[in-house]
Amino acid sequence: MPINADGPQFRLDTDATSYWFRVSAFGHLEHVYYGPRLPGGPMEALALKHTATIGSTIAYDQSDLTYSLDVLPLEWSGSGYGDYRFAPIEARMPDGIFASDFAYVGHEIMPGSVGPQDGLPSAQGDPDACSTLRVDLVDEATGVRLELFWTVYDRADVITRRAVLINGATSSLTIRRLLSGMVDLPDRGFTMITFDGGWIKEAHRHDRVLAPGLSVNASTTGSSSNRHNPGFLLAERGATEDAGWVYGFNLIYSGNHLGAVELANHDLVRVGLGINDHCFEQTLAPGERFEAPEMIMTVSDAGLNGASHHFHDFINDHVVPRAWRHRPRPVLINSWEATFFDFTQKKLLALARQARDLGVELFVLDDGWFGKRDDDTAGLGDYDVNRKKLPNGLDGFGKQITDLGMGFGLWFEPEMVNEDSALFRAHPEWAVRAPGRRDTLGRNQLVLDLTNPDVQDYLIASVSRVLDEAPISYVKWDMNRHISVAYSPTLTEQGRFYHAYMLGLYRVLGAIFGPRPDILLETCSSGGNRFDLGMLCYGPQVWSSDDTDPVERLAIQGGLSYLYPPSCMGAHVSAAPHQQTLRPTPLSTRFNVAAFGVLGYELDLKNLGRLQLQEIREQIAFYKEHRDTLQFGRFSRLDARRPHQVGWQVVAPDGREAIAGFFQTLATASPGYDALRVVGLDPQRRYRVATRPQYLYLDRFGELIKHVLPVDLDPDGVVLRTAGKVYKLTDCVECYEGSGALLGAGVLLDNQFMGSNYNDQTRLLGDFGSSLYVIQEIDDEH
Ligand code: GLA
Repeated sequence: MPINADGPQFRLDTDATSYWFRVSAFGHLEHVYYGPRLPGGPMEALALKHTATIGSTIAYDQSDLTYSLDVLPLEWSGSGYGDYRFAPIEARMPDGIFASDFAYVGHEIMPGSVGPQDGLPSAQGDPDACSTLRVDLVDEATGVRLELFWTVYDRADVITRRAVLINGATSSLTIRRLLSGMVDLPDRGFTMITFDGGWIKEAHRHDRVLAPGLSVNASTTGSSSNRHNPGFLLAERGATEDAGWVYGFNLIYSGNHLGAVELANHDLVRVGLGINDHCFEQTLAPGERFEAPEMIMTVSDAGLNGASHHFHDFINDHVVPRAWRHRPRPVLINSWEATFFDFTQKKLLALARQARDLGVELFVLDDGWFGKRDDDTAGLGDYDVNRKKLPNGLDGFGKQITDLGMGFGLWFEPEMVNEDSALFRAHPEWAVRAPGRRDTLGRNQLVLDLTNPDVQDYLIASVSRVLDEAPISYVKWDMNRHISVAYSPTLTEQGRFYHAYMLGLYRVLGAIFGPRPDILLETCSSGGNRFDLGMLCYGPQVWSSDDTDPVERLAIQGGLSYLYPPSCMGAHVSAAPHQQTLRPTPLSTRFNVAAFGVLGYELDLKNLGRLQLQEIREQIAFYKEHRDTLQFGRFSRLDARRPHQVGWQVVAPDGREAIAGFFQTLATASPGYDALRVVGLDPQRRYRVATRPQYLYLDRFGELIKHVLPVDLDPDGVVLRTAGKVYKLTDCVECYEGSGALLGAGVLLDNQFMGSNYNDQTRLLGDFGSSLYVIQEIDDEH
């Protein structure tokens, strides 16, 4: 039983963490401790002392002048009673006054998770995995009630929180902000780490040392956004990937979010997370309730990787849909970058056949299959198959794909409409736009008004119809613009728009995919513009970014990996030079990066030579052989030994194998020695480390090829070009043995190319080079 409520004291213990709080003399919830697991003992020693009166503070009650809400570590706070820090609630209470003061009246402990009632997604756990504490509070002056929930996941070392406000008064109240939860932590010299960016540069890590005042991580675009992922970390001073206290926070929500961290007077750090109050306003009539989405938190003393591991386990075990928990994800080919809108059935089938022959398991038909969708100016909203492109219909085409032995997947963008579409002509009032205001388009499209139940019903019916008429086993659900002029004629209060949109979307997703649990849903929003835990409750993977350049992906997937496991990240091998960065990267590196995610290919295979196709065949075979490790193993980032190098690794759930990636984004002349450290292996067991063989193409070396070939050839001549199609060099393959402890200390690798001479034990990484190492336990009996 992880929750121990001893009188008005609460001890929420997971396997590795403890979260303690208690009810203060005046009924407030006083936070006492969040950190590595404690064996028990009295709370008093840990609790913050208030033995002196502090100047410039407001006394809550004249009976104790040392008791000021402004300097107490709290689990919840209001405004108006002397706490001037950022408040999780701002509401015009039923008496018209903005002050609120919630005090404990009771609590209940329940087995398992307890989800919200209003259609918000939430994490799920059975009674053997978690228990839930609900604490009831009341604002005595008005009778407004607040229910706070903590669900404690023992093995995952994650605690979730949410808040429900109930108007128990006889007149209305208006919520202007209601976060999911807050906590005040003693400052440990925290750095706030956020994951920010934009289109094709999502989730880049940014660190800022907390300075006094508010640091905010927020979105106002209508979705969780590629600008600022809702998840963030607080790392104590000096924390590294593997050491130091790190707190992690994230939100199970896909709309506007607000993460607020305030370094306040007297070294307390307030952390609050929930729906953004931007344009938010919601009135509650007497008896009505408002539920905030669930937030998640963790802490680890094993550094940034420690916090990430907790989140990874939690997401794989308690967030993604049950039918996809630990279920292998297929290797796919996506038609988008191969053909864009310009395809015929013949072209697609040729691509699918070629992909199937390479080992690809799922063919995904992307944008362009319906309505008048020949470019991005028309057709969104009309999900009737374009028979000019697919004369046998979707059903016929899907069957041709499944007859090849592949799964068939389809792209949709249901939340959007083009003005040039039958849907818009029939229902212009279904688009988000306001009378008397200019229409604002993004990618030539308008957003459909998902706050409107008629629109929701239409989407449920039209997408379900398509899914049932063809043999579809995968859906890519896209959303390619932000919301602007948020307005719906069906809402009485426009301050509800953004949240009502999300509730509408969640209803639509639940109604479509709930009854079809075996369809693999990959969500997308111009890449990773909605990469969040809310979407992951419906679809277990998200298209991480439209940017598939592997060097960029090191930052994108690396950033996402702090918060989300590899099993959630769609990662494709595409063409080089890359379409967004013009960077030419080796096929091996494109694969080596994508292998640390859910692997796919997104390029026109017919343009590849025999050797490249053979290399892809080998990549896919390798990925399938190690799929369980790559998708569900323990992923860690390694502290880089030098700039321009990145190390990732993943250890199999049973600890018998690991895959490590060594990536170099820029070469340096005559570099120092490189080491391969593999952490998290059993220190006693013995392992063999071997480089995964990969190809080096002759054309990469131009004139330098004379150093490795016995004959002198013109680098631009026909002979070398022809030879390059047939011959390749094999990259340096290394092999070592040692205990898990030895590998944790670091194996020193063969030299990189040092500027002269070459032999087959020289690692030819150059710019953008990389290698994968396979680490396998040596079975002594053989
Ligand atoms: C978005 C997606 C892409 C692709 C296109 C199709 O940009 O992120 O992967 O599906 O839409 O229009």
